[in-house]
Amino acid sequence: MSTVGRVRVHPSSLAGTVTVPGDKSLSHRCLLLGALVDGEVEVEGLAPSGDVAATAGALRALGVTVELAATADGSLGGRVTGPIAPDPACGVIPIDCGNSGTTMRLLAGLVAGSGGMVRLDGDASLRRRPVDRIIAPLRAMGASLDALDDRLPPLQVLGRATTAVTWQSPVASAQIKSAILLAGLGVDGETVVRSPVASRDHTERMLRAGGVEVITEIGDDGGETVRLRPSRPALSRLEASRDPSAAAFWHVAAACGAGTIVTPGLCLNPGRTGAIEVLRALGASIVIDETRESSGEPIGRVTASPGSLGDAVVAGELVVRALDELPVLSLAGAMSTGGLDVRDAEELRVKESDRISTVAEMFTALGMHLEERPDGFHVPGGQRPRGGVVQAHGDHRIAMTAAIAGALGTGPVEISGFGAVATSYPSFLSDLAALGGRVEVLDD
Ligand code: S3P
Repeated sequence: MSTVGRVRVHPSSLAGTVTVPGDKSLSHRCLLLGALVDGEVEVEGLAPSGDVAATAGALRALGVTVELAATADGSLGGRVTGPIAPDPACGVIPIDCGNSGTTMRLLAGLVAGSGGMVRLDGDASLRRRPVDRIIAPLRAMGASLDALDDRLPPLQVLGRATTAVTWQSPVASAQIKSAILLAGLGVDGETVVRSPVASRDHTERMLRAGGVEVITEIGDDGGETVRLRPSRPALSRLEASRDPSAAAFWHVAAACGAGTIVTPGLCLNPGRTGAIEVLRALGASIVIDETRESSGEPIGRVTASPGSLGDAVVAGELVVRALDELPVLSLAGAMSTGGLDVRDAEELRVKESDRISTVAEMFTALGMHLEERPDGFHVPGGQRPRGGVVQAHGDHRIAMTAAIAGALGTGPVEISGFGAVATSYPSFLSDLAALGGRVEVLDD
């Protein structure tokens, strides 16, 4: 795993094929759902990343056997042997979720649904991210939870969920939805989660693959309702396809003129293809082929090539499907002729960093302009990054966005805290170099 602290990326042409790591969201779920199954589940294609290691470590602390090893294609594979059966007699088990919000939130739901007591904590970035949004529904289900001011980690789950609920989530968040569904597996009756718009449905697809009854309806207003009838999932194999959010860095680089880049085997769940749609709306050339399906998820090869970029607006339901990619899409907006307008994206403020302000800070550091708003930003077009120094602020996506800015810009970009990329994409720097990127490691 990369632990590089400071790197410099020089203006570069990039071209070729890059196989990005296994999808982070899917990797977590392969482990968590694998732990619910009675018996051995073979897992394949997992990301060898810090966040996924946090979930594996958490499950081990809860008594689940998780055996993982590096495979020839650079991913992690092995087996998970469940079912998870936390023993309340063990007292409160401390679990370090590292930088991973998905670990903390989904695990809180899983533990609430299966009994046991945990104290979920994480690094400085995770400690700033709100957990009240999962405390409220899990308490309504009868679980006992505790957090700092009922809002911030450490988050303790001290008693199990007993009652099915119908929960209206104020935000469209797959983490909240999944936490409630996982807790719902442990109660009697139908659990219903309603959200203002649909979010990624990996948990639902995997549960269905395991024979659990999960029904999704999308209303005329775009609202999503998910109903779950509890039963133990039965599966023998789970596979994570490649991470579209990791590939988005290469798609943006290609669309902005670096060269043609091919990314095979990507997860193309409709909840994850927003960035591709935004790049196409801007005028980029993106071709999808070699499509197939695995573990209930659509998969395909995506080829991105330089295009002449116009302008685009990201708002409403598209925001949810492009949320993790908005930092790097800001570069495509800057290098377009008409710019990029991002609205309804206040959730960006509670990610690994406040991504509206860290993107704005990066723009300033690289001699560009971006108008910050409470719920997003406006990026004027006709700009190009200059050289400069960018702080990653403990955020993997800011570190990688800054590296792409270095490749696309007119001068070298130095990034401090680059080690944050290990959260989702430990091989990012070697992939950048393999595509032709000129990189210097200044300090590890
Ligand atoms: C994730 C859901 C998203 C995303 C995060 C991973 C998941 O968060 O930003 O990186 O795996 O469920 P929200 O759905 O909470 O916005």
